[in-house]
Amino acid sequence: MPFNPANARLPRELRALPRERQPALANAARYWLNLAGFIDRLERLGSRFVVTMPASGAWVGLTDPKDIEVVFRSDAEAVHFGEALRMLSPHELVLGPTNLTALDGPEHLEKRRLLLPAFHGEALKKYEATIRERAREAADRWPVGEPAPAIDQATRVTLEIIMTAVFGVTEPGRLERLRDAVLALISEIGSRRFLLETAIATARRDGFSRQFPRIEARKAAVDSVVLEEIRERRATSESRDDDVLGRLLAVRDDDGKGLGNPELCDQLRLMLLGGTDTTATTIAWALDFLTHDPAALNELRRSVEAGEDGYLDAVVQETLRLRPAFPFTVRLTKRPLELEGLTIPENTLVAPFIALVHRRPDLYPDPLAFRPERFLDGRPGTYSWIPFGGGRRRCIGAAMSQLETAAVLSVLVDELDLNPVCREPASLGRHSVVAVPANGAPVLAKRPRRIRQESAAETVTPETIDLPRTRS
Ligand code: HEM
Repeated sequence: MPFNPANARLPRELRALPRERQPALANAARYWLNLAGFIDRLERLGSRFVVTMPASGAWVGLTDPKDIEVVFRSDAEAVHFGEALRMLSPHELVLGPTNLTALDGPEHLEKRRLLLPAFHGEALKKYEATIRERAREAADRWPVGEPAPAIDQATRVTLEIIMTAVFGVTEPGRLERLRDAVLALISEIGSRRFLLETAIATARRDGFSRQFPRIEARKAAVDSVVLEEIRERRATSESRDDDVLGRLLAVRDDDGKGLGNPELCDQLRLMLLGGTDTTATTIAWALDFLTHDPAALNELRRSVEAGEDGYLDAVVQETLRLRPAFPFTVRLTKRPLELEGLTIPENTLVAPFIALVHRRPDLYPDPLAFRPERFLDGRPGTYSWIPFGGGRRRCIGAAMSQLETAAVLSVLVDELDLNPVCREPASLGRHSVVAVPANGAPVLAKRPRRIRQESAAETVTPETIDLPRTRS
């Protein structure tokens, strides 16, 4: 039974740590309703702190890369991710019991070993052309001459990339049904109703054991299209390695056994959901930063035109530093965890606090400023730049999502004049557990630059118009 200081006192080892004094319910309310305020308050507490949440109890927040290295390097039996997630949210009901994030220990390592090759090296190279093609289509259909929320366009293109690069779904009718089904599921997960249902389940402490009928229905709609594709693929003897599904259908464990349909559905649903919102919000934040920073936008455009990748990669890294899609990740300790001068007892939730690591002035001078240059001189640190978590649970889509973000940004800046709509950059909002631009990051795209260049007489001056923010 995990230790729960909502009912008991803090263990002796943790009593000396700075602590968020608000009650658990107030902390949860702030997290759900005012994410920026939640993060700001915890920042005042320093590198190690305790914050208490309803049901899941006390978490130990960590922001020092040295501590985070210990957590991420702990072996698979010492810290659990799946079990930690299960205490915090009904994610398993949405993603399914066999999805990779729900597993721990040897079972997780075994499945991760099977899935990982589909997202790396040679495999990624094969998806690259598809990703670039989808990015160009996104630029072609980007609304021109009227403000449009970048998040909507970005969600569409990331979903199309996942559907074609991951699933290889190309049949137009099926693509459309899958797109609609996934968007409906994403929207339901981010709805106030689901938030309320989740809050009630948390308050009842029933461990999210009950079903959420609307989620079940939307999940079934996604699975029915996914299963059509799976069945069709299984029916042909031809094996494919140009998309993730083809590779997953071909994987065999040591006993020569492949993945069954329910498990394939769980893993594919995880990729559809885990890979869409996260990458879309990164693209939207990048566009928001760039349109509010003409010097950075010009430098990006110049470097893309010159065929250089350095600044583009730095823009992606700086965006993920300032606006990581997940503000923190979690582990449940399965035995005492030894940090320098502190032993964290077993059955404690430990939260490497991604957003706060990225805001440390000792690691990133002027930490709140958007300065891609800071990443031009070298690779980001393994434990000081952690938008994708780390260790054995590091995001398997990290390389793919950075490739996607870079591809979409480079095509957009090359083909469109992008302008800000609001005077100030977007504030932090939340959609489900993903940190998103609260106003959707509206962008005003003007006519394609190529056309403008061809008509030399015409000069388009970027302008800023004031629009009320949709949400703050
Ligand atoms: C900008 C985009 C993305 C961000 C910021 C992101 C972030 C993360 C984070 C923080 C974790 C937890 C890691 C940990 O606790 O150590 C994670 C796990 C994971 N992500 Fe991503 N992710 C992104 C895109 C993707 C994409 C595109 C996919 C797949 C198509 C994906 C699939 C996964 C999977 C399967 C896991 C679980 C890994 C495991 O449990 O072993 N993610 N991601």
